Amino acid sequence: MNGSESILDVRDLSIAYGSKTVLSGVTLDVRENEILGIIGPAGAGKTSFLQAINRMDAFNASMKVTGTLNFLGRDVRAWRNAYALRRQIGVVFPLPVGLPLTVYDNVAFAPRLAGKRSRAELDEIVERCLRRAALWDEVKDRLDSLGSLLSGGQQQRLTIARALSQDPVLLMLDEFSIAVDPVTTMRIEDVLKELRQEMTIILVTNLVQQARRLADRTAFFLDGRMVELGSTESLFNGETLFPETRDYIEGRFG
Ligand SMILES: Nc1ncnc2c1ncn2[C@@H]1O[C@H](COP(=O)(O)OP(=O)(O)O)[C@@H](O)[C@H]1O
Ligand SMILES: [Mg+2]
Repeated sequence: MNGSESILDVRDLSIAYGSKTVLSGVTLDVRENEILGIIGPAGAGKTSFLQAINRMDAFNASMKVTGTLNFLGRDVRAWRNAYALRRQIGVVFPLPVGLPLTVYDNVAFAPRLAGKRSRAELDEIVERCLRRAALWDEVKDRLDSLGSLLSGGQQQRLTIARALSQDPVLLMLDEFSIAVDPVTTMRIEDVLKELRQEMTIILVTNLVQQARRLADRTAFFLDGRMVELGSTESLFNGETLFPETRDYIEGRFG
């Protein structure tokens, strides 16, 4: 089912803010067309991990990233710039971060920045991305209203449409369902199952069962370490190697 080709190769990754190390010694590969789930309690280093991949350290002087982070065969720090890299990596944050623009312009924003000008081409991108985010039917008659007027669940799907607007190779979601109702969460989960046919997904989630439903493999982060990485099936069948993982999955802490 999964391509075994690795699109992201992380070796001995460590992250510090100033003198405080928040993640150390993480080694893993992310394979083409898989959903890699990352679970773990608050403060484990999950968000920092995503930020290192899309080079947030370029915008935060106190953030120090060491180790290897090869994306499509090249270290993320060797890409021409963070923007070129981010064209290949879509990111969805815990809370929808809409641009103060219309629904249409939210999705068209990045393609326009990248030089796409033709109205027909932009129309096609906007419709395709909104459809892939399962939002088109709800907004097709209000493309010119402000994105911020949509409901919270719709705004989060708009964020996903935006993240798709440059056809990323990798989509990273950070606790996307924290402020979204359960029905929308399930709709987005269905969207992710579809998207995984065409791209690779890293799904950081506070919901252990969400990782179980969606992820091919799941990593467990705790206190700045990756404790364990294995097939989701084996982790949830109790074939964990470490008691910390089992305790977390069974809801004994976190
Ligand atoms: N910009 C920052 N500056 C300083 N410390 C940070 C920053 N971002 C995160 N941290 C710290 O790094 C640790 C890991 O945080 P984070 O990566 O957000 O974990 P998680 O997403 O698993 O909750 C926490 O102790 C947090 O306080
Ligand atoms: Mg986080």
